Amino acid sequence: MTPTTQLRIHRSATSESTQAFADDVRRGLSAHPKNLPPKYFYDPLGSQLFEAICLLPEYYLTRAEDEILAVHSEEIIGSLDILPETLLELGSGSAAKTRRLIDALFRQGRSTLRYVPVDISATALERSARELLGKYPTLRIEAYASDYDTALVRWRTERDGSTLALFLGSNIGNFDRDEADRFLRSVRHALRRGDALLIGIDLKKSRTLLEAAYDDALGVTAAFNLNLLVRINRELNADFDPRAFRHVAIYNQDRGRVELYLESARAQRVRIAALGLEVAFACGERIHTENSYKYDLDEISELARRNGFERRATWFDRQRFFSSNLLLVT
Ligand code: TRP
Repeated sequence: MTPTTQLRIHRSATSESTQAFADDVRRGLSAHPKNLPPKYFYDPLGSQLFEAICLLPEYYLTRAEDEILAVHSEEIIGSLDILPETLLELGSGSAAKTRRLIDALFRQGRSTLRYVPVDISATALERSARELLGKYPTLRIEAYASDYDTALVRWRTERDGSTLALFLGSNIGNFDRDEADRFLRSVRHALRRGDALLIGIDLKKSRTLLEAAYDDALGVTAAFNLNLLVRINRELNADFDPRAFRHVAIYNQDRGRVELYLESARAQRVRIAALGLEVAFACGERIHTENSYKYDLDEISELARRNGFERRATWFDRQRFFSSNLLLVT
């Protein structure tokens, strides 16, 4: 088989559309309070900054989840009713942790495997797909460069064989409670009886640890957040001064979430030429850019049950910071 038949990348209009970005920026910056949708973090620089975040001492999530998969992959795969033919990964990024599961699947007897990564970043997708093909010559990759909903709708019509879906990195935490429900239901809708979802979810813990994880000493998370303004400057011809905004991360304990903001350091007006829009900021006014919800085990069970899954098993890292949950389709 040649590399070209082993890798197909479906690009959807939504992954690259400037129009959608323009509409979302207009809506978000005209709203009260101001907000911007987090999916736009992941331009080429944003994706690289996110890779750097995963290496930060304060950002324990990636290491904790990798530890879980390094230690328990065999057991996770062994807990499935059927050895899956397809690994469907939503938000695959660099797919570094995925290798643990691919290794376990091959060790437990699969000779071929279809890998279906979905990621909003076409560059991250291409890079990780090529690396995986170098390491696993019998892998077949069917990649979707798009948002989750678009990919799930398209994949559902083409799927065949048993599937293990992956949603790692506590990406579920970036959804509000009702968005998380909606997302899980659409994953459930794309799966069949016997299929499963392995979902990584960050656990509630002390404010100090949580706030440090999202506001590191080197300022990488700040750069990741501020890059959104740089992207608006470039793509929508705006004149944001990123130095006039600061990164803020606050753990809102009542709502069980870390909130990320860009806070205006002074009163200022910003012109977004492509939108014909001028946006006024008061000193201290914030743009809400991201939430990262933290869960406890009861909430995870409930989340699963409400949306057509059952939590069959959960694995933890040694510090019990993070959880990997195997949800079975009911
Ligand atoms: N889902 C992960 C988390 O909530 C990764 C992530 C998404 C993230 N957006 C982020 C990490 C912004 C830091 C900053 O932790």
